[in-house]
Amino acid sequence: MNMDLLFLSGFVLLLLLPKGAPRKIPNDFQFGTATAAYQVEGGWNASGKGENIWDHFTHHYPDFVKDHSTGDIACDTYHKWKEDIQILKDIGVNYHRFSLSWSRILPDGFARRINPDGVRFYNDFINELLKNNIEPMVTLYHWDLPQRLQDLGGWTNPDMAIYFKEYAKVAFELFGDRVKRWITMNEPYSFCEGTYSSGIAAPHILSPGIGDYLCGRTVLLAHAHAYHAYEEKFKKLYGGMYRNCFLLFFGPIGMVQLNI
Ligand SMILES: *[C@@H]1O[C@H](CO)[C@@H](O)[C@H](O)[C@H]1NC(C)=O
Repeated sequence: MNMDLLFLSGFVLLLLLPKGAPRKIPNDFQFGTATAAYQVEGGWNASGKGENIWDHFTHHYPDFVKDHSTGDIACDTYHKWKEDIQILKDIGVNYHRFSLSWSRILPDGFARRINPDGVRFYNDFINELLKNNIEPMVTLYHWDLPQRLQDLGGWTNPDMAIYFKEYAKVAFELFGDRVKRWITMNEPYSFCEGTYSSGIAAPHILSPGIGDYLCGRTVLLAHAHAYHAYEEKFKKLYGGMYRNCFLLFFGPIGMVQLNI
């Protein structure tokens, strides 16, 4: 279980306190932890999961990562989810934010074929969180596009917005009865810029000033489609909240991202 965020948040909290102030956290403060599927799950090819861009890239270009490490096993949350949730319980969090691996649920990216084991895994995970009074908060996309969709141009292909909406609807349909807080994309600026401009993110396609803008445009449309799909159908059914986690602005000096 990746606890970096927890430590970081705690650290920032301490820095923000005025000097000499009593170090007391307000009673209504809600603690949470956060992970990303590729960083923790492992089980990269387990029970019907499709390949995603990080699987593909780390396997085909091992030199891309300094020590040749991959997320093939990572924290092995795919197998150790019960232990991980027990740790969350022990440290007393109110929320746990995690992302769904798109290609674990839809192996080739499209909604026409759902992988039952992927659904089983997330159902178990969500149910176990709730059993321990930890509220699940789900990110739909945390940088791990199904490779089959990358082969069709990834986020530079405008149709990706529709494929994302279809995927989002599958996720709302499957988990929306229990998951009330949804986040569409994690750090769109970082993955568009990282993939197409600085090249630090898979699949490392350098097209600065073009690829990153095409990516940002599709990602904004994808977010809008998913948001409307939730508002139109699922909000009535489940009464959940749809949180935008970003604003993306493309200006003459580049892209600006605000997390809200
Ligand atoms: C999954 O990948 C591992 C290597 O990481 C390989 O040894 C194994 O055969 C693969 N399993 C399947 C079902 O493809």
